[in-house]
Amino acid sequence: MRCWRRARPRRGSWSCSVRELRTAHLAAPDDFDGWRSAARALILDGTAPDDVLWQVEGEDDLFGAPPTMAAIAEGAFSVPRPFVDLARTVICHRDPERFSLLFGLLCRLREEPRAMEDGADPLMRRLARLASAVRRDMHKMRAFLRFRELGEGEEARYVAWFEPEHHIVRANAGFFVRRFASMRWSILTPDLSLHWDGEALSEGPGASRAEAPGGDPVEAVWKTYYASIFNPARVKIGAMLKEMPKKYWRNMPETALVPGLIAGAQRQERAMVATSAAGMTGDNATKSWNALRTEAKRCTRCDLHRCATQTVFGEGPLDADIVFVGEQPGDQEDLAGRPFVGPAGQLFDRALVEAGIDRTRAYVTNAVKHFKFEQRGKRRIHDKPNAGEISACRWWLERELTLIRPRITVALGATAARSLFGRAVTVSALRGEAQPLPEGGEAWVTVHPSYLLRVREDKDEEYARFVEDLRRIGAQRAGPWRDS
Ligand code: URA
Repeated sequence: MRCWRRARPRRGSWSCSVRELRTAHLAAPDDFDGWRSAARALILDGTAPDDVLWQVEGEDDLFGAPPTMAAIAEGAFSVPRPFVDLARTVICHRDPERFSLLFGLLCRLREEPRAMEDGADPLMRRLARLASAVRRDMHKMRAFLRFRELGEGEEARYVAWFEPEHHIVRANAGFFVRRFASMRWSILTPDLSLHWDGEALSEGPGASRAEAPGGDPVEAVWKTYYASIFNPARVKIGAMLKEMPKKYWRNMPETALVPGLIAGAQRQERAMVATSAAGMTGDNATKSWNALRTEAKRCTRCDLHRCATQTVFGEGPLDADIVFVGEQPGDQEDLAGRPFVGPAGQLFDRALVEAGIDRTRAYVTNAVKHFKFEQRGKRRIHDKPNAGEISACRWWLERELTLIRPRITVALGATAARSLFGRAVTVSALRGEAQPLPEGGEAWVTVHPSYLLRVREDKDEEYARFVEDLRRIGAQRAGPWRDS
């Protein structure tokens, strides 16, 4: 039997037992830097994973250990970048074993540098599950957190309450700072609170729900917005609860509307299911598309993911014979996670109806999948994506088009056309003529619906011209269009 005892550790050193059991002290449950420096020292010291006790300050600290300890050891070694990314994420999980699991992998990587490539390995699988739960929780915080306004004018301050499942609040702080840089806000959670005064971020202790303010006028905006984007075809209660667990509902004004919207949606749902069922291709295409969409949710190919709420991927039947490509999601699309649901989307819908095109039979996507904006006060003002961002995101569009193989791809505006053709083009030069695409099918170029919202002169004529473009393009779909 192995025999060991724990000793009260001295600050700045390892606490050792007879069996060389070591206690590594971390300042906080998400203390990645502390874990990294302790792990480095332990490895250089030849400590085995089973011989380390990871102790977070304040958590079951039965032995009254000092709060932190600088783990100093001579020497250095490098680890693959994917390990650092994985460890940073997994550290935020609430699983008490996370520190030792990561340390186990780190020890293994020293012997087997390619250990992370074995996706079937039980340790890798477990860590991947933890990482994915953390990412999901981070996404939920970004998407479901709602600020309430306190005070007015210069005094205005925004306060939100959120209950994360994991230790993600600090990891998400940068997102909220970038996204709401010009507002003064506080995010209260049971573990800790964050406060942004427009210049500096500070932390405070955890709070209780009772300390967070109740409703305010922001709720009315959210409710109107949510009702307008509500999609009855998405009302699969199980999936909805999974995506938006009920515990967040109390905090989200728009969810008060959900029961009523569901009740009124059944007939519409059946109609939409009927049309889109006819459009579903085989399981393989669906699986590939789901995998692509899931991957795109984590896209970091350019910096736009840093401020946007989420990736807005394309949607529609995978056997659609027509694909519409817009520029990038706008403010409302960014919040809803769906393309063309805001003002430009509503104009687009109206024009499609007038042109005799059924949107539920088309695939609708964007050249750039993250919202690019400039924050001005409370408003997020659309900012045009640059050539680098368009080119980084082209990777996704190409894959969507390869899966769908549409007969017709319609570029709405210059950004979409640039992405489609891989070079800068002018809408007026290509408008009205089919452009053969090297990979098959043809492209058409027309204006972007938001141009029609902006244009001041000849507004009605411009709109009619757009509808006419769509009608003409829609008519091309009559002929045979697939090679197989
Ligand atoms: N504009 C776009 O290009 N795409 C959207 O999804 C919304 C507005």
